[in-house]
Amino acid sequence: MSYGLLKGKKGIIFGALDENSIAWQTALRVHEEGGSFVLTNAPIAMRMGTINELAEKTNAKIIPADATSIEDLENLVAESMEVLGGKIDFVLHSIGMSVNVRKGRSYTDQKYDWTAKGWDVSAGSFHKVMQVLYKHDAMNEWGSIVALSYMAAQRVFPDYNDMADNKAFLESIARSFGYFFGRDKNVRVNTISQSPTPTTAGKGVKGFDGFIAYAEKMSPLGNASALDCANYTVSLFSDLTKKVTLQNLFHDGGFSNMGVSDAVMEAFEEQQKD
Ligand SMILES: NC(=O)c1ccc[n+]([C@@H]2O[C@H](COP(=O)([O-])OP(=O)(O)OC[C@H]3O[C@@H](n4cnc5c(N)ncnc54)[C@H](O)[C@@H]3O)[C@@H](O)[C@H]2O)c1
Repeated sequence: MSYGLLKGKKGIIFGALDENSIAWQTALRVHEEGGSFVLTNAPIAMRMGTINELAEKTNAKIIPADATSIEDLENLVAESMEVLGGKIDFVLHSIGMSVNVRKGRSYTDQKYDWTAKGWDVSAGSFHKVMQVLYKHDAMNEWGSIVALSYMAAQRVFPDYNDMADNKAFLESIARSFGYFFGRDKNVRVNTISQSPTPTTAGKGVKGFDGFIAYAEKMSPLGNASALDCANYTVSLFSDLTKKVTLQNLFHDGGFSNMGVSDAVMEAFEEQQKD
């Protein structure tokens, strides 16, 4: 259902790789709500993914950019303003990658140049995106910038590895840059801390299947899907949330405030009987 919440708003959406991506679902929902946008992803992802299909469905232009490259980001922001015909109202940073996770190195055996690369892609890029937008005065007043995080920034999830540290850094950048963006440009900056979601990035984490099933049983409302996340993001891009900023917003069916649930207890009690 469409409420026309983003009618006339213009934005940039990072990170749509395939239809499972949170950014993909968000692009579809933003389009339904009347927003127009540029889609962007790393040049290498363009070759792997199916972003053209999404661009056709949403009448979006694709502008490739490695989110760790200031040069690419400057080009992206300048071209986006040209294509969209003015300043930007919303930005979604939906980017994450750890080389240590990908190559199966445990948290206690990191290769630090991989750690640095993962940090740059997953957290540093958020600062770079905002710094480019800020310096070029590219955001409209009362615009909204959202990045996606995960609760491993606050609690221990061993197999999430160095991504836990990257997410803690990402959330801190949202607060720190959000202050300046709010003070100087009336732009809000938030992170959404999303449930485990079956995407390329999500499924890359060791033990993901067991973990997503556990989170489902722990959460009174069940896990939030990519589409649920898209809907929440639309609300944060809309004018209905103008005074929400510097927040890390849990979007996880209640998981983050749970100790234990009946469903999890039952699973353990069953095990004891065996
Ligand atoms: N899937 C989950 O369980 C989950 C849970 C909480 C938060 N998140 C976060 O959601 C966000 C989106 O991930 P997703 O789950 O949709 O997976 P995804 O794999 O579909 O998306 C990750 C995206 O990051 C892009 N990317 C990687 N390196 C890049 C670079 N240098 N420049 C630009 N883009 C680059 C990839 O091409 C891809 O499109 C990430 O920040 C992820 O950490 C995911």
